[in-house]
Amino acid sequence: MIAFNEQKNCQWRIAKRPNGNVKESDFLYDETEIPTIENGEILLKTLYLNIAPVMRMYMSGESVANEASLNIGDVIHGRGVAEVIKSKHPSYHVGEIHQGQIGWQTFKKSKVTTAEKFRKIKDYKLPYSIGLSTLGMTGFSAYFGFIDCGKPKKNETVVISGAAGGVGTNVVQLAKIYGCRVIGIAGSDQKCELIEALGCDGVINYKKENVRNSIEALCADGIDIYFDNVGGEILTICLDNLAKKSRVVLCGSISEYLNDKPFGPTNYTKLRKTNSLMQGFFVYNYEDQFHVAEKNLARWIQEKKIKPIEHMFDGFQNMPKALASIYDGKNSGVAMCRIRKGPYEN
Ligand SMILES: NC(=O)c1ccc[n+]([C@@H]2O[C@H](COP(=O)([O-])OP(=O)(O)OC[C@H]3O[C@@H](n4cnc5c(N)ncnc54)[C@H](OP(=O)(O)O)[C@@H]3O)[C@@H](O)[C@H]2O)c1
Repeated sequence: MIAFNEQKNCQWRIAKRPNGNVKESDFLYDETEIPTIENGEILLKTLYLNIAPVMRMYMSGESVANEASLNIGDVIHGRGVAEVIKSKHPSYHVGEIHQGQIGWQTFKKSKVTTAEKFRKIKDYKLPYSIGLSTLGMTGFSAYFGFIDCGKPKKNETVVISGAAGGVGTNVVQLAKIYGCRVIGIAGSDQKCELIEALGCDGVINYKKENVRNSIEALCADGIDIYFDNVGGEILTICLDNLAKKSRVVLCGSISEYLNDKPFGPTNYTKLRKTNSLMQGFFVYNYEDQFHVAEKNLARWIQEKKIKPIEHMFDGFQNMPKALASIYDGKNSGVAMCRIRKGPYEN
């Protein structure tokens, strides 16, 4: 574990709006006093912080994912897993571990507002980082995007881009549970090996192969579900290769986040030819059903049908580097940073 000042609340704030990928100079490190709490408040000690593509958008000042837009000098938004260490709130108890909007800091004082979306993590006898991976927003995005929007049927051909990433590794495994034939697209041979081990029937290394040729070869009868994590050129190619009554699920478009101009596929009219549907979704629109996703995903983990894949960076000091590295494709599975060791970790 990389040490930091335990006597202070260590924070990462925005120093500059990013231009292209984030750089160390876009971040400002700060140490403030550990907050004291009033009636109705709790104090949490951070264990793990999620590293997600959306955090660069927060730094750019965009108001995304229902979070307030940030100014220069603000602590960066981010979901985390944290232990309640003090409580003056009747519904929160010392020792409980919650996931929610913690921000890039080592302690968090909270009035437990709805906007912070805290969820208590049950004791699954697994490291509580699971509350940021399969049993958190990443797993829930895979669950609702694939099942509710994708409407999978047995033997259908499913193509997943960003397949070795956080959402992607969960969708690959869900698609196998639903009896689909799964083609995963990822950015290195090691990542392709990982998603093959998770059940992919075919893999495409988009940095080495001609994706159009590979899709045409692997999906000769067309794609029934395209789960899109990346947008851009790969979306265009998949739209050209849809089967009749196929579904295109718009989860994310990471290939476009660093560009100034938004990308628009010129061939969206291909949906017409195949009676296909294209549907976007936002995970928090399913908030009233999170308990259902958690119950099913937890059961599949216990039945060894889903293996949570986590890419753990170590140390609060490494948060900026960790965020930059996901845009460089360094992570396999859900990227997060260990701030302190939690229960069930070796
Ligand atoms: N709709 C929602 O509610 C919702 C919720 C959560 C996440 N999302 C979106 O879902 C997507 C996946 O999220 P995640 O958190 O699981 O992230 P992630 O997949 O772990 O993101 C990082 C991965 O994206 C890939 N990548 C980076 N730049 C790329 C590029 N230019 N072209 C293609 N791939 C690129 C890299 O893998 P390679 O090495 O394979 O390139 C990298 O490892 C993101 O677009 C995110 O914004 C949406």
